[in-house]
Amino acid sequence: MIPETTLNQIQERVNIAEIIGARVDLKRAGKNFKANCPFHQEKSPSFMVNPDKQIFHCFGCGVGGNVFTFLMKFEKKDFREAVEVLANHAGVEIPKDKVVDAAKEARQNELIKAHRLACEFYQNVLWKDKVSERVKAYLKSRGLTEETIKDFQIGFAPEAWEALGTALKKDVPEKILEKSGLILPGKEGKYYDRFRKRIIFPILDSKGVCVAFGGRVLDDSQPKYLNSPETEIYSKGRQLYGLYQARSVIRGEDFVIVVEGYMDVIGCHQAGVRNVVASLGTALTSDQARLMKRHTSNAYILYDADAAGETATLRGLEILLEEGMEVKIVRLADGYDPDSFILKFGIPAFREALNGAKNLFEYKVALLKTKFASNTVEGRVKIANEMVALFSKVKNEILRAAWTQELAKELGLSEAALKMEMEKTGASEKPAQPFQPQIQIRPAVTGEIRTAEKILIGLLLERKDFLLKAREFLTVEDFRHPALRKIAQEMLLSVEPPTSLSGWMGLFREDIESAEMMAMAVAEAEKVSFKDKAFEDCLLWIEKTKIEVRREQLQAQIVDAQRIGDRNRIHQLLQDFSELNRGMKKSHEKK
Ligand code: CTP
Ligand code: MN
Repeated sequence: MIPETTLNQIQERVNIAEIIGARVDLKRAGKNFKANCPFHQEKSPSFMVNPDKQIFHCFGCGVGGNVFTFLMKFEKKDFREAVEVLANHAGVEIPKDKVVDAAKEARQNELIKAHRLACEFYQNVLWKDKVSERVKAYLKSRGLTEETIKDFQIGFAPEAWEALGTALKKDVPEKILEKSGLILPGKEGKYYDRFRKRIIFPILDSKGVCVAFGGRVLDDSQPKYLNSPETEIYSKGRQLYGLYQARSVIRGEDFVIVVEGYMDVIGCHQAGVRNVVASLGTALTSDQARLMKRHTSNAYILYDADAAGETATLRGLEILLEEGMEVKIVRLADGYDPDSFILKFGIPAFREALNGAKNLFEYKVALLKTKFASNTVEGRVKIANEMVALFSKVKNEILRAAWTQELAKELGLSEAALKMEMEKTGASEKPAQPFQPQIQIRPAVTGEIRTAEKILIGLLLERKDFLLKAREFLTVEDFRHPALRKIAQEMLLSVEPPTSLSGWMGLFREDIESAEMMAMAVAEAEKVSFKDKAFEDCLLWIEKTKIEVRREQLQAQIVDAQRIGDRNRIHQLLQDFSELNRGMKKSHEKK
């Protein structure tokens, strides 16, 4: 059994849109994502992923569930396998039995030791080896002082095939060195060093433990950087370069500057701007955003002023916004990165650039104005459309309203028109059709019963007050659809009801059908706009159905009693029947 806490941890850390998005081509649709359903053939997308609720659902074929269910279905895994994949992705350890655990811990310690020794080795080469004069000269030419080089533990990997391997062999088993990626298997069972003739930037985790390296060439040869592979102690999407050195300053200043490269972090740091981290050359991940959020909720994105930097900026923005950070964007003069900018223009100019940071709104409008002609109607509509799509990512409603107002002014469009556009894309709350309960009653489990019960379950999953009321007034038997009744059973009777949707889904983690039904119920209830009214209608409806069922039962019982001539029973049943018809609810509770 995988402990509850572990499953919760995984749920908290993975983002369903990211997991599904890596396997299915998702498109933004307001707050949600949509795609052609991977589980059935279709031409227009009815497969929805809801990142707020962390569920997916297909309106076409009815599949649905949470992130675990998705992997089980999509990759045909069993529950444990699905959890393992996600645990790995989230960096959550599934507790194993003690023996395996101890072995793993020992291996990780060996890996850490290998990195510690390698880090010392590379620094020794830089400071003690004669051939490194050139390297020191290069670093100096890049403006780095000895102190900075030492602060960042920068080293040098010599131009040799087996230097590191030979030096470390006596202290660390070759198998471990191979696992660390520091040496690679070559011909005839021999190993060679991964990093050769490169400046070495150690990557420290947030405790200051070296877990990987980046290596830069001394000239213009390619690839410019070579990095450690992912290992048991290193996953690049989960580290931020420079965080260890920067974190106390980040707390002090209450903001973090996110840059692209090693040299940017180091350059800023040396110039006295120390609250800087780099995302290690990849698009920011939510794990990295969460790492930052431990220290501050304000971020400045300061990526290179080129096309790649622009794309990365927008991606990073989204990730940071989704983690609830406040984000500002700094654009440096064309062709500069933070490091080269500071060297050329100095720190006052750099501070000035920081002061001129734009918020997301300003940045995006400015960017769109360079793309579309804002002096034409078409251009303004295009800008409006893109902005509206962006608004959907902003969680804060007040901010969204303010931006809508600002955008209307900026583009000379009416606010009402923008709002209408937002409603279409789902950037604001959807105005759905009012809920129409089906008062018509049939005792068998019909489509209507199914729908009403489904909406009810959906509402209960959405609002705690509904759930409390339902637990007071409804019984499991009130639900007639077998699959929904199974869910109702948990929802009405569980002693410690979960507090979140994922918690509820967790109760059905190995019961894909129920998870699917839940996802469907949530999706159904989402379409309802007047929730309180819908809830009341559902209760009313259930009450009426119940009476109707009871009436049919009584009629059948009366027929039976008449057939066997049981006069007392006939009398009793007729009395019940008339009470029922007078609408006395108590009657159905009697035997
Ligand atoms: N990067 C990488 N592999 C590459 C190129 C880049 O891992 N082949 C990552 C590195 O983390 C690098 C970052 O992307 O630091 C940004 O790349 P770039 O701007 O080219 O590097 P700088 O750090 O600015 O290096 P320099 O100033 O020395 O050119
Ligand atoms: Mn650079």
